[in-house]
Amino acid sequence: MTRARAIAARAPRAVPLPRPGGVPLAAVLPALRASEPFARACWLYDLQAFESRARRFLAAFAELDPIVAYALKANALPALLDRVRALGLSAEAGSIGELEIARAAGFPPAALSLNGNGRTREEADWAARHRVGLVNADHLDELELLERAAAGASTRLRVALRINPAIRTPGHRYVATGGRDAKFGVAPREALEAWAARARWPHLTLDAIHVHVGSQLVEIAPLEAALEIALELAAESARRGARLALVNLGGGFGVNYGGGAEFPIERWSARVAKRVRGTPYRWMFEPGRWLIAPAGVLIAEVLAVKTRGARRFVVLAAGMNDLLRPALYGARHRIVPIAPRAGRGSPAIVVGPVCESADVFGTVSLPPLEAGDVLAVLDVGAYGAAMSSNYNGRGRLAEVVAVAGRLKRARAAERPEDLLRGRRSDELPLRSE
Ligand code: LLP
Repeated sequence: MTRARAIAARAPRAVPLPRPGGVPLAAVLPALRASEPFARACWLYDLQAFESRARRFLAAFAELDPIVAYALKANALPALLDRVRALGLSAEAGSIGELEIARAAGFPPAALSLNGNGRTREEADWAARHRVGLVNADHLDELELLERAAAGASTRLRVALRINPAIRTPGHRYVATGGRDAKFGVAPREALEAWAARARWPHLTLDAIHVHVGSQLVEIAPLEAALEIALELAAESARRGARLALVNLGGGFGVNYGGGAEFPIERWSARVAKRVRGTPYRWMFEPGRWLIAPAGVLIAEVLAVKTRGARRFVVLAAGMNDLLRPALYGARHRIVPIAPRAGRGSPAIVVGPVCESADVFGTVSLPPLEAGDVLAVLDVGAYGAAMSSNYNGRGRLAEVVAVAGRLKRARAAERPEDLLRGRRSDELPLRSE
């Protein structure tokens, strides 16, 4: 079979068309146009779908009663964070901006943790001043910075050391974080030395270990290897006189973007529970993608259909500045028409309007299409809107949530005039040496 026939054979009908939150997809853009007459694309999240995944995650790990810190970098839309908080989840921030977003969403500071491999003094001061629940330190010099911040705020900060377990993960190398070459974490030997010498940092409670080996994992093996290393290090640290109290196993649980499998969360949680039964640690996880990716859809109008030779290009009103994953990682999301026309499916190269040849969402089988038709790009709830940019002078799209048959605009689209904000010319003082 030729490649084109093979793609055509994967009929679009095989993809379930979601009705997020009980709302037909076809109703979303017309509803948004009541507020934004020019809307041609938007993000849509099904809050109930998100909530049921979060409940499933919590139920799976119930025996461990872990701290579950939602990874804000996946999607920090306030409407979503309300749910996160109501479900009793904590929040994992990677920057001062995410800390502020979480605080504005009503998370108590004790329910916040802070990650990142480039700690600034401002972040350390923020964490100390607000007394965040946990800081995951990425290198040892960071401990001095955190110590000074905690001392300055007359408080103690709980700090985990992120270790580099030298574990290679399958999948795209850009989302692998546990390998020897990755920029993240300290060597296990350094961590053991720091825990043993922890009296050196009197304002830090240095009693936790953090390991996060990568994202979009669909197999248990790398996480199992990471767990074994964490257990071994915690035991070795106790032998050296420094008992640890908290093991943060990070996130990384993958979803099924089509044609594959998602990470088997229940199988993994059962495995972890059995393995760690009787150990004295508190457990922590930092899931992002697994919770929110399947609950998000990118809805975009077809701006043009162009046939050149045997190729059919379908140009969407959303591009790589909106959904970067295909261009950056070669990710392939399912793409379906929301009101399919009659006719056979045939290959379509679905592209965005950005002036880059990487602005391609993928080649998929689609029925006949005309300008004005609407396509849905599925499973974009995580690292979709969160990674969007103003490239090519394009405003970020509106974000809409669906719940119980109703729609709410949770963030307005950026208009061209919004892009002009902050464009000013200030004289900067040059200091003479
Ligand atoms: N914890 C830490 C320390 C992390 O760096 C991350 C994600 C998470 C937790 C959450 O990981 P998750 O459960 O979502 O896999 N932009 C990429 C993914 C980058 C992940 C960055 N770190 C993508 O679109 O695939």
